[in-house]
Amino acid sequence: MTNTLFRLLVLICEAALYGPPYGVLNYLIRSPMPLEPEACWRQITAEPHPVPLWISDHYPPQFLRRFLLALKRHQDHVLGISKHYDVSNEFYELFLDRRYMFYSCADFRTGQETIEEAQQNKADFILHLLDHKPGERILELGCGWGAMLKRIYEATGDKENLTGWTLSREQVAYNERHNGFRVEFKDFITADYPEQAWDKIYSIGAWEHVRPHEEGPLLAKLHRALVPGGPLVQHFLCRLQEDLPAAGVISQLFFPGSIASPLRFHVRAHEAAGFRLKHLSVHDYRPTLRAWFENLVRNRQRAIELVGVRTYNRYLVFFAASWRYFDRMTGCVFRLLPEKPRCPRIGFDIQNR
Ligand SMILES: C[S@@+](CC[C@H](N)C(=O)[O-])C[C@H]1O[C@@H](n2cnc3c(N)ncnc32)[C@H](O)[C@@H]1O
Repeated sequence: MTNTLFRLLVLICEAALYGPPYGVLNYLIRSPMPLEPEACWRQITAEPHPVPLWISDHYPPQFLRRFLLALKRHQDHVLGISKHYDVSNEFYELFLDRRYMFYSCADFRTGQETIEEAQQNKADFILHLLDHKPGERILELGCGWGAMLKRIYEATGDKENLTGWTLSREQVAYNERHNGFRVEFKDFITADYPEQAWDKIYSIGAWEHVRPHEEGPLLAKLHRALVPGGPLVQHFLCRLQEDLPAAGVISQLFFPGSIASPLRFHVRAHEAAGFRLKHLSVHDYRPTLRAWFENLVRNRQRAIELVGVRTYNRYLVFFAASWRYFDRMTGCVFRLLPEKPRCPRIGFDIQNR
């Protein structure tokens, strides 16, 4: 009883400050009992939604959103990442695809594939964009549990030239134990990059952690770090609106300190840093989120043993709330192939015609 009253009180306070959807989602997460899966999914994704759309979209108002997110901007990035990823490797194994352990949007082409097949489709697509050859030095920014490094190694047999960076100590340990790749605990935003140290660089599901003020300086470093003709393959989610959506505040529940930028901002930032865009495609995150949700529910008992009820609830809520974000087209997943031109002046002239 006291616990329920306390949760309701927190709900009211959070709804007033961060908006009703934030308050409701956190109320669900704080449930002392494991959430009933289908009720949770319906409550969060159903239309009409229990929190009317106008309120979801307009509260907190822009000035308050900007203020709250400006506060988050000063939060420690490393800590924010660790909070999400250093939960338990075995916990992530319970819902990610078994072959690679990708924690990023898969390519469901027919809608009938398993998560394993859909992640294979994605890995093959990115491998094709990378056009990687043995002997080339390649760096993954935010390599997770080494999923794409594994796919590249399968294709080339070259482990020597693969490097991954992550801000999760659990992931470093996992890569050491299971994959034997050179994976370092390193912040790719603040890292130094020697000139032309890499033939290819890519990131999958990590660029969304780069905050707007960090993007330009980081792209300038990456441009310098690549050899001429080197690609910077990017797969990330971003928002579609220019204005900060109210959902940007909700995302702080899951990724404290990360602030998504609009697609146009990313494209301009890459071009301004001197990259030439050679590919852009759009991908649907919803089937992946639903597959992870179902896998986690199927493994509920073990999940709760490993991480406790609240973290189990948090991931159920995260998958359902993200599904709704993409269903409402607040954001989308994009794949970009920006390339450092072999001759910078030609690249510049072509873009400006
Ligand atoms: C959503 S996971 C994606 C992992 C992997 N690329 C995949 O597709 O499975 C995001 C990864 O980015 C890493 N990351 C986020 N910000 C980072 C930063 N500034 N420096 C290094 N790694 C970062 C996290 O540690 C995590 O490994």
